[in-house]
Amino acid sequence: MGRATDAATVLLLLLFTLLPGRTTDARSAPRSIPLGCTGRRIHIRDLPPAFNLGLLSSCSDYAPFLEDFCHYLSDHGLGRPTRPGSVSWHRTDPLALEVLFHRRLLSYPCLSRDPSLADAVFLPYYSSLAALPYLYGSLINSSSSHGLDLFEFLTRDSPEVWRRHDGHDHFLVMARPAWDFSQDPEMDPPLWGTSFLEIPEFRNLTALTLESRTWPWQEHAIPYPTSFHPPDLAALDRWVSRVRLSPRTSLMLFAGGGGSIGSSPNVRRSIRLECEANATDAIDESYERVCNFVDCSNGICEHEPVLYMKPMLKASFCLQPPGDTPTRRSTFDGILAGCIPVFFEDQSARSQYGWHLTDDEFDEFSVTIPKEEVVFKGLKITDVLRKIPREKVEKMKEKVIELIPRIMYRKHESSAGLAAVKDAFDIAIESTLLRIKSRLEGLKIPSSQ
Ligand SMILES: *[C@@H]1O[C@H](CO)[C@@H](O)[C@H](O)[C@H]1NC(C)=O
Ligand SMILES: *[C@@H]1O[C@H](CO)[C@@H](O)[C@H](O)[C@H]1NC(C)=O
Ligand SMILES: *[C@@H]1O[C@H](CO)[C@@H](O)[C@H](O)[C@H]1NC(C)=O
Repeated sequence: MGRATDAATVLLLLLFTLLPGRTTDARSAPRSIPLGCTGRRIHIRDLPPAFNLGLLSSCSDYAPFLEDFCHYLSDHGLGRPTRPGSVSWHRTDPLALEVLFHRRLLSYPCLSRDPSLADAVFLPYYSSLAALPYLYGSLINSSSSHGLDLFEFLTRDSPEVWRRHDGHDHFLVMARPAWDFSQDPEMDPPLWGTSFLEIPEFRNLTALTLESRTWPWQEHAIPYPTSFHPPDLAALDRWVSRVRLSPRTSLMLFAGGGGSIGSSPNVRRSIRLECEANATDAIDESYERVCNFVDCSNGICEHEPVLYMKPMLKASFCLQPPGDTPTRRSTFDGILAGCIPVFFEDQSARSQYGWHLTDDEFDEFSVTIPKEEVVFKGLKITDVLRKIPREKVEKMKEKVIELIPRIMYRKHESSAGLAAVKDAFDIAIESTLLRIKSRLEGLKIPSSQ
């Protein structure tokens, strides 16, 4: 007990007071459709606190975190500012995306109190936080039951909301790779993960995850949150000018862990070897060094964005090799820094984030070097990158900079000017609405024949 618990309580109260749905104004809001909301109306399902806010109160004891996770839930999931008075920079943890998303939806302009008028239904279920005991704690041997309590609620309390479209119009955020929720329910205890996305109860809903599986089932990937959450256009513009003007003194950068020289061949190890060789003769004199290796082993960078953002601002290319899973938050940190991403497999981004990083422009802002070429055929990353003409590098950087607003999650209650710029949340919502629409249309065809 003590400070952490107090912090959690304060946080809970804050969230509650900001729930527009709970004010009398919203309750008595007219049932008519606000102008411009046709096809965009979202109903937020009222869930008991055990499925969302209640999960926050134990934040000081979340397994497997050794430190108090409450810091990262504050400011509605943005986390605490990186330093007192910091306007745009927070210590953001990807797990808190569920809280951040919920908060953004609460100020979504086309909310519908009446579910029967809604085009989609949002489940404010903090699924990754609810999954922690199944992944790391006392429920580790009951992984196939993750979510059954939610399904029971949805089909008992106002069951007509679910039944209207058999859940096909429902969506939620799961702030982890889908892999963590897609274990065979027959395999209990599982090797890893819960079965939320494998059980028939949830086959129909749309899950926004940080990484999707190779074949799209019910999930779609959305960007990992970075630490940058500007409140207004001026803050965004200041950052973009800094990114544009920053001198790039390293050809490439890798920020991450793994790949120790003693490990078996893998792309992180190849990167480490190339960085240590520091073959400065291979680059033109505008760069001071070939590679900047920011060692983030043991999670030291996780909540310290300054450790990698500053070096990223000074590199032309940011290497984004797969790790435990193909995707990384670092991809988005790098884009935010105007650092051109270098991918080693399509599963790292191209086949994941199609809503935010569209396929037709993919090669204009990124480089793809197949990892097999590097690991087994001796292809040097440096050789590939230094052959790209300087003008082309500049063009790619400009393209990366263009992506910044699309991959960032701006601050809730941003200024009207910034709110007019579509950010990662806006694009995710728009795309989810379209996906649900086409899914419902698809379902109608066979039934009307
Ligand atoms: C889970 O099951 C394994 C054996 O199947 C057992 O050793 C372990 O103690 C169980 N864990 C919990 C938290 O029940
Ligand atoms: C999922 O949708 C199908 C029809 O599209 C329906 O038969 C099934 O009952 C739905 N599942 C749930 C859990 O609602
Ligand atoms: C790489 O070599 C350059 C030039 O010799 C040197 O200035 C720089 O410090 C070296 N960098 C590393 C990381 O060893």
